[in-house]
Amino acid sequence: MNVCVVGCGYVGLVAASCFASFGMTVVCIDNSKEKIDTLQNGDIPIYEPGLKELVQKSLSNGNLSFSSDISDAGSASAIVLAVGTPPGANGEADLSYILSAVKEISSLASDNKERAIIIKSTVPVGTSQIIRDLLDDLGVEENFYVVSNPEFLREGSAIFDFLHPDRIIAGIHSPKAKTLVETLYQPLTSQNIPLLITDNTSAEIIKYASNAFLATRIAYINQISDLCEACGGNIEVVAKGMGLDHRIGQHYLQPGPGFGGSCFPKDASALLATARNYQVDLSIVESTILANNKRKLSIVQKAIDIFKNHDVKKVAILGLAFKPDTDDLRESPALYAVPALVSQGFDVKVYDPAMPSKKIPALNITTEDSLVACIKGADAALILTEWQQFKMLDLQKLADALSAKVVFDTRNIFDAMRAAHAGLAYYSLGR
Ligand code: UDX
Repeated sequence: MNVCVVGCGYVGLVAASCFASFGMTVVCIDNSKEKIDTLQNGDIPIYEPGLKELVQKSLSNGNLSFSSDISDAGSASAIVLAVGTPPGANGEADLSYILSAVKEISSLASDNKERAIIIKSTVPVGTSQIIRDLLDDLGVEENFYVVSNPEFLREGSAIFDFLHPDRIIAGIHSPKAKTLVETLYQPLTSQNIPLLITDNTSAEIIKYASNAFLATRIAYINQISDLCEACGGNIEVVAKGMGLDHRIGQHYLQPGPGFGGSCFPKDASALLATARNYQVDLSIVESTILANNKRKLSIVQKAIDIFKNHDVKKVAILGLAFKPDTDDLRESPALYAVPALVSQGFDVKVYDPAMPSKKIPALNITTEDSLVACIKGADAALILTEWQQFKMLDLQKLADALSAKVVFDTRNIFDAMRAAHAGLAYYSLGR
């Protein structure tokens, strides 16, 4: 099968290299000539475990190619849209990249071949209809089926998630699209991964409703964690006790400094914007967004209070990314914590394993080149991301390196008893 993926971002690159790994012939298109040149050399502009190797392998066996010219997609019967849908001013998703990609794709209709436009980008409810209307205006509606095929991969485990999804969702409006989707995903469905075929609107809602639900679980467990702290409970055993109920399950019950990343905050806001358009009350999602915004601020305030109590001046911040195994800073709690600590007069050094010795313009700071360099000379440490490298830290060495021996761990990566035993004034969440 010949596949074209439009958009060489996270989702696009992962999808393109995974389809290529199934033996399909894939061309990945992006408007940025510079990005295409980088990718053609086998260099990957983002940090994602395993992606570089997979791209290089498919480049060398000829299954994958990159281009900035849509006419190179001529032989593809499936055109996967994976361009960005950044948040607009009112939280609604900005569709301009999607619509301009569709206009470019419409030029392929001159050969009269039928193709599917497969929307993998996270798009607001109703987008498939907007695309069909646009194709109609362009006089090429007959040549394309529009398939809503949301992607659920997570950054940091993107390839694994793409190849082992819990389910594949495909919203269609034509039976012909069903056959094409079944062929495209045959390598996964043959491993008993369920393919749920539905209408376009339901598929669009499934993506947002799933992300907003997971985000709500995190906002909820963060508040229960505060309650544990206030009453003397232990969030870890509380979450475990809740999760053992199979109707609840163990996942997404880890307290933290607030969820970040490119999806949960954006998707929850976009879902809320859609509900407002339809005058539907989505106050649960609204509360999730509010709770998460408050969470990011209250965690920073907690850090400031702890450090001031211990007369801390120099703080080593461990982790900037919104979660481990990515260099993504979007909506990361660090974007609140670093400026707040600096403005309170703390002397701040930062380290993140995915971005050593790197200038971070958003924070006006350059990261340290190693963990050791970051904690050396600091009074206290603030752990913001649960990188494996931090989990492996020798607590005794950490205590020896920090002159005030203070650690505020917003990811609960250490055992509190062991930290105390090492002589640390150790603060964590909900326990
Ligand atoms: C998410 C969805 O999981 C994925 O299905 C969708 O395709 C894209 O959005 P991602 O943003 O990559 O994926 O990260 P994820 O691992 O889900 O974490 C999101 C945020 O929630 C992170 O900030 C993480 O630290 C936080 N989180 C997650 C918690 O605070 N507690 C948890 O228990 C789980």
